[in-house]
Amino acid sequence: MKPEPRDRLIVALDVPSVAAAEALVARLGESVSFYKIGYQLAFAGGIDFARALAGAGKRIFLDLKLHDIGRTVASGVESLARLGASFVTVHAYPQTMHAAVDARAGSDLRILAVTVLTSYDDADLAAAGYDFTVPELARERAAQARDIGIDGLVCSGQESAMLRPIVGPDMLLVTPGIRPAGAQTGDQKRVVTPALAIAAGADYLVVGRPIIAASNPSAAADAIVAEIAAASTAHKPPPPG
Ligand code: C5P
Repeated sequence: MKPEPRDRLIVALDVPSVAAAEALVARLGESVSFYKIGYQLAFAGGIDFARALAGAGKRIFLDLKLHDIGRTVASGVESLARLGASFVTVHAYPQTMHAAVDARAGSDLRILAVTVLTSYDDADLAAAGYDFTVPELARERAAQARDIGIDGLVCSGQESAMLRPIVGPDMLLVTPGIRPAGAQTGDQKRVVTPALAIAAGADYLVVGRPIIAASNPSAAADAIVAEIAAASTAHKPPPPG
């Protein structure tokens, strides 16, 4: 069962201060139920803010891309589970993924793995010592994430169609790089529309600038939710009989 269309939209709170985040959340009101907090806000008071937002009934995705020795990853994940976060990202290294999955047991926290950073190309992987192309490494790490019991993957709209057959129907695919038709792409290179991302198999869409930089952010969020709803209806299996 997929969540309601509104609950499949995650808005990236890519702002420099808690005051700016509070103002944005107040403007978005009931239009948005799920927020992503990354390095910028997390390192400027955003962890306490995340706790408060979770206490106010919003869902929280902490995009912290954890990676350390297993014991340190595990204790960090236990703290984030107590805070009330719903999603946290880890880099898709087997030891890191094992530690995170074990540590979230018994909580509502779900672990998302980042296979290969979207800013990396084959030359970046070679420079880092890997003898894999980006798609080869993404496929390999997706299969490892599945076998370890990771809850989902962060992947581009183009990648999700390739990764869905590897991870099966139950793992969550969370897709950033979303641009409504006609929107500015900014620095994103591999963008898809909300409808295309849903059709390619995404469970959740992460949207930053098309909402937070809009003149009317809640109207922009509502329009994306409407597009998610239309795309999910279009791809529902026909009723039996
Ligand atoms: O403003 P925009 O919609 O491009 O924001 C997308 C968000 O998703 C940003 O917070 C960015 O850091 C995040 N993200 C991404 N690509 C990834 C992982 C996360 O764009 N592979």
